[in-house]
Amino acid sequence: ASRIPFVVANWKINKLHADVAEFLDKVNGKVPAENVVETGIAAQDLFLSDMVRATAQSPIHIVAENVHWEDSGAYTGETSPKALKDIGAKYVLIGHFERRKFFNETDSTVNLKVTAALRNGLRPIIDVDEDMSTYAQFMDAEPSVAQVAAALAGVSVDQIRNVTLAYEPTWAIGSGEAASAVQAQKAAHLIRQTLAKLYSPVIAEQVRVLYGGSVTPDNAREIMLQKDIDGVLVGTSALDPEKFLQLVAIAQ
Ligand code: G3H
Repeated sequence: ASRIPFVVANWKINKLHADVAEFLDKVNGKVPAENVVETGIAAQDLFLSDMVRATAQSPIHIVAENVHWEDSGAYTGETSPKALKDIGAKYVLIGHFERRKFFNETDSTVNLKVTAALRNGLRPIIDVDEDMSTYAQFMDAEPSVAQVAAALAGVSVDQIRNVTLAYEPTWAIGSGEAASAVQAQKAAHLIRQTLAKLYSPVIAEQVRVLYGGSVTPDNAREIMLQKDIDGVLVGTSALDPEKFLQLVAIAQ
């Protein structure tokens, strides 16, 4: 399998307009070609158009943090997948733990959003965390197989190639306590086994699986060396352009 490493920054609702421009100025021209390492930056919708323009000469892909499941219509406050595609966003995060926790995202809305993204030519990065039943068990790095299966319901063999999965243990997000490389590998392997069952072993080897949760330039190397881990989804560390570039260099 030749899966291209993928480093994705998730800025969440941090950074203001001027910070975004400053960050992109600092990293533009310093990111490798996308056939070496793919890079993405997820930000609030209102910055995405500017970011697409600012990275026009750069291989950095622009990533939305959420999307609605209908292409258009009366859904005040939502963002259309068609509009995201139209402005040049390439990827979209779907089902992040924070969306599930604070905004009542469910397996069923995640699935609707995944299929809406794919039908509009956006590539979903689907977040997977623990079963809520094991959520309380601190340090239990066990991804929810049910979340993977539910998110991918109705996703065809052709479409799955455009999907990335990201395992983020709930307890590792923003906590400073990343999963160990061994835990992260075990979780990524379980996700890949699930893909093998849902699709085929060959397809399971083609789909990228990322790790997210307190990734830093210090722990990223060991995590990214793991066989089933193809990259990282990074919040806090990726707010800093130097650290983002270090993470991209580690992924090479
Ligand atoms: O999507 C990114 C994650 O939630 C990880 O955030 O790197 O701040 O732990 P963090």
